[in-house]
Amino acid sequence: MKIVFATGNEHKLEEVRAILSDIAEEIVSMKSAGIDVEIVEDGKTFEENAMIKARTIAQYTDALVLADDSGLEVDYLNGEPGIYSSRYMGEDTPYPVKNQAIIGRLQDAKEQERSARFVCAIAAILPEKDGVRKELCVRGTFEGFIAHEIAGGNGFGYDPIFYVPECGCTSAQLTPEEKNARSHRGDALRKMRALLEKEGF
Ligand code: IMP
Repeated sequence: MKIVFATGNEHKLEEVRAILSDIAEEIVSMKSAGIDVEIVEDGKTFEENAMIKARTIAQYTDALVLADDSGLEVDYLNGEPGIYSSRYMGEDTPYPVKNQAIIGRLQDAKEQERSARFVCAIAAILPEKDGVRKELCVRGTFEGFIAHEIAGGNGFGYDPIFYVPECGCTSAQLTPEEKNARSHRGDALRKMRALLEKEGF
């Protein structure tokens, strides 16, 4: 089976391959599948945005399409940056600047008020069966706290400020395997794999 994953982010694709390789022979990005389309992510939730991406890509391929939408919710900031995580402070602002800004906005927060989570919604559009393409959607989460300092060189985005209490370090200090075992994307992908197995994949 072939899966087209609606992303251009190689980090994400590697995480997806690590978890779904046993149910799919080939997992390719939309670009490798020859699909070059502008996607307008104007949903109000992670789930809506994931489904918008999946439905857009499914117009161009008969293969199983997966799309994710993810982000960081900081409780002290009422859930910001949330669905706007990649656009927070502008798409082109470097992550060290975004990360330092979040740490700065939490300077008056008490320790227990620094809670945060990564959220990932994954939507799937299945290949056509009996004239219909079934849609599935799952959510995964990764609970942690905003660190006091930037630390670690693995991962991407907000990983260097995402402190994982049970590991005693940030998610940017975990190996890819350690992160996959706990992450929001890993959680969502495992839930999606279970649903796809139920569908006979
Ligand atoms: P998306 O590509 O529209 O899902 O945007 C996700 C954004 O959320 C990324 O650009 C990052 O800023 C942030 N994000 C999502 N997952 C992670 C993660 O695993 N580590 C660090 N940042 C993440």
